[in-house]
Amino acid sequence: TPLPRVLSGIQPTAGSFHLGNYLGALRQWVALQDSAEAFYCVVDLHAITVQQDPAVLRRNTMVSAAQLLALGVDPERSTLFVQSHVPEHLQLSWVLECLTGFGEASRMTQFKDKSQREGTSGASVGLFTYPVLQAADILVYQADQVPVGEDQRQHLELTRDLATRFNSRYGPTLTLPAAHIPPGAAKILDMQSPDKKMSKSLPPAGCVFLLDEPNVTAKKIRSAVTDTGREIVADAEAKPGVTNLLTIHSALSGRSVAELEEHFAGRGYGDLKKELAEVVTDFVTPVRSRTQELLDDPAELQRILAGGAERAREVAAATVADVYQRTGF
Ligand code: ADP
Ligand code: NA
Repeated sequence: TPLPRVLSGIQPTAGSFHLGNYLGALRQWVALQDSAEAFYCVVDLHAITVQQDPAVLRRNTMVSAAQLLALGVDPERSTLFVQSHVPEHLQLSWVLECLTGFGEASRMTQFKDKSQREGTSGASVGLFTYPVLQAADILVYQADQVPVGEDQRQHLELTRDLATRFNSRYGPTLTLPAAHIPPGAAKILDMQSPDKKMSKSLPPAGCVFLLDEPNVTAKKIRSAVTDTGREIVADAEAKPGVTNLLTIHSALSGRSVAELEEHFAGRGYGDLKKELAEVVTDFVTPVRSRTQELLDDPAELQRILAGGAERAREVAAATVADVYQRTGF
């Protein structure tokens, strides 16, 4: 039986990914390469739904691609590409937009959340139709599975609805993707506000970026907010900060949380933070240097991404040809 096809994308906007991105998503990208036919893209088209500086966007797209390679995405075993290099995403997106109800798009809660922050009048139409482009990203590869977090469930439902609608109107064409909840995906909390998810949108002191300088990484971990108790035990309700540190340690060291609780028994938060800072810097140091090596050879990086785009386009162009023919073009 053929391997399930998987599509996943990540925005390049922060330049550096953070521990939440890695432990909640990118680590699973790497793991899935052997059990799936994986298509992974840096979604630069999505990035411009909010204003970007062109030079910064271009740079961040390359830095993002280099980090994915440094983290273990293998261009021999998966198709790694940049979204804007595959214009078929946009060709399918237009057809899907014309199948999307205005009311249906208006119900997407992520747009409501984001535009509430900016004010609807300041939000672009691109931000509004973002979930439709996301549907095209998935459907253009006929993906069977999409790794998704809770925040993306509604968008995946829209994707399935649009595929169903296209298929019932024009005949079976598009594969309905299923949500794949990656095993071992961890939710990482902000170091300064452990009631919130670690995010590039929160102040950087709470967000451990993979490309931070080692002393910055260590400082962020040493200054992590913990509760006033002393015991190093996992308790997500009462001790979210300490639990978060244990979760990160466990995910990177491969030692179970129970084992770590025993290891830290009778010791203080300072010991946990000091050791975690070492565990994290040991992990990110080779990732940082490999990323830098890749960025130092832009021709090679471009070559890898061009190869990925070429493979992606073979699949995407076949879908668009079929969709266009059926649509009446
Ligand atoms: P951010 O919240 O920093 O803007 P994104 O929304 O771009 O990050 O998320 C990219 C990917 O990383 C998504 O798959 C998302 O679910 C995952 N992710 C982001 N933050 C975390 C986190 N704190 N814990 C676990 N996974 C996360
Ligand atoms: Na986000």
